[in-house]
Amino acid sequence: MPATSTQIQQDFDRLADLEGDGWSHNNHYHAFLLKQLPERSELDALEIGCGTGAFARLLAGRFRRVLALDLSPRMIEVAKERSRDFPNIEFQVADVMTYPLPVKQFGCVASIATLHHLPFEAVIAKIKPALAPRGRLLVLDLYQAESVGDFATSAVAVPVNFVLKWLKNGRVREAPEVRAAWEAHGRTDVYPTLAQVRGDCARLLPHARVKRHLLFRYSVVWDA
Ligand SMILES: C[S@@+](CC[C@H](N)C(=O)[O-])C[C@H]1O[C@@H](n2cnc3c(N)ncnc32)[C@H](O)[C@@H]1O
Repeated sequence: MPATSTQIQQDFDRLADLEGDGWSHNNHYHAFLLKQLPERSELDALEIGCGTGAFARLLAGRFRRVLALDLSPRMIEVAKERSRDFPNIEFQVADVMTYPLPVKQFGCVASIATLHHLPFEAVIAKIKPALAPRGRLLVLDLYQAESVGDFATSAVAVPVNFVLKWLKNGRVREAPEVRAAWEAHGRTDVYPTLAQVRGDCARLLPHARVKRHLLFRYSVVWDA
């Protein structure tokens, strides 16, 4: 059964104190995501599910102001501590589904490893009006492997993952308390298949570019 928002919040409150700023499957793709953005924009950016704020800090170098939302109060506390030198980021503890997003405000809406916690159609309906004309939606998230291509990609990803973890973090396994927290969270995590993502995008985000990445993730780039 999918987790309730209270469970999700509690899981990420627990993880906030365990997660460092080391290499991860998510931040591995920050450079790819940044490449989709202008060097500099006078518009604002929104990040949904900012966690400890690493991508918000990158957005802060490109956009006038960044609004970074997260359901977990502890994530937002850590994000604020790590972002003291970034006065143009506003962190808010908020559920994006109930947060009153301004209309046509954001040159970019980004979300990393968060949309799988939300009903896709409803969150897209929430995001679309908030994008400025020609604003860009960037999604990076996890998918459930189902096709031969997915499993072949995962077969390559597993050893690559170990090598990258060793090179970047100096170890291949996380500390026991981190693994325990992720395992507990993973018991209720549900991911869409790529076919579902492609179908949803075809319906809701015409001409979106959906891409499968090596490390168990897909991206969506869509222009309003
Ligand atoms: C797997 S973490 C990813 C964090 C960060 N984007 C990263 O790449 O490290 C997912 C985050 O989404 C947040 N989240 C989940 N549901 C949310 C919601 N409805 N509104 C805002 N944030 C949410 C969680 O609290 C958590 O911090």
